[in-house]
Amino acid sequence: MKEIKAIIKPAMLETVLMALWRIEGLPGITISEVKGFGKTKKTTSKEKSLDEILAHENKIKLEIVVPDELAENAIKVIQENARTGGKGDGKIFLSEVLDVVKIRTGERGRSAI
Ligand SMILES: Nc1ncnc2c1ncn2[C@@H]1O[C@H](COP(=O)(O)OP(=O)(O)OP(=O)(O)O)[C@@H](O)[C@H]1O
Ligand SMILES: [Mg+2]
Repeated sequence: MKEIKAIIKPAMLETVLMALWRIEGLPGITISEVKGFGKTKKTTSKEKSLDEILAHENKIKLEIVVPDELAENAIKVIQENARTGGKGDGKIFLSEVLDVVKIRTGERGRSAI
């Protein structure tokens, strides 16, 4: 099992979600509004407050846990649909998931995803 964590531009959320929606067997998605910055920081002033630094750094975080065989396609779909070509398009992180527990049934592992 793999976790795909993607940070994308809010303006690309609808396009990315519509594309992910079409992937057969995609088990679920968590969507959060987050703030952050990448390597290319917009400000270099040390005088700025944290609020000012993060004022225009709104991003969307997607978290998706999938069986191994769906991971590469999900990554491809996100990369293709979240891309504008400009700076700040975001990143996709891939990690191994050790276990999943489905709270309602107590199932574990792949069948609980
Ligand atoms: N290494 C990282 N760890 C955690 N979050 C990151 C990392 N890199 C980027 N992010 C998140 O992704 C968002 C978008 O990053 P961004 O696309 O600006 O990266 P970048 O390396 O600056 O690339 P670019 O040069 O295209 O702007 C950031 O605002 C931050 O929330
Ligand atoms: Mg950047």
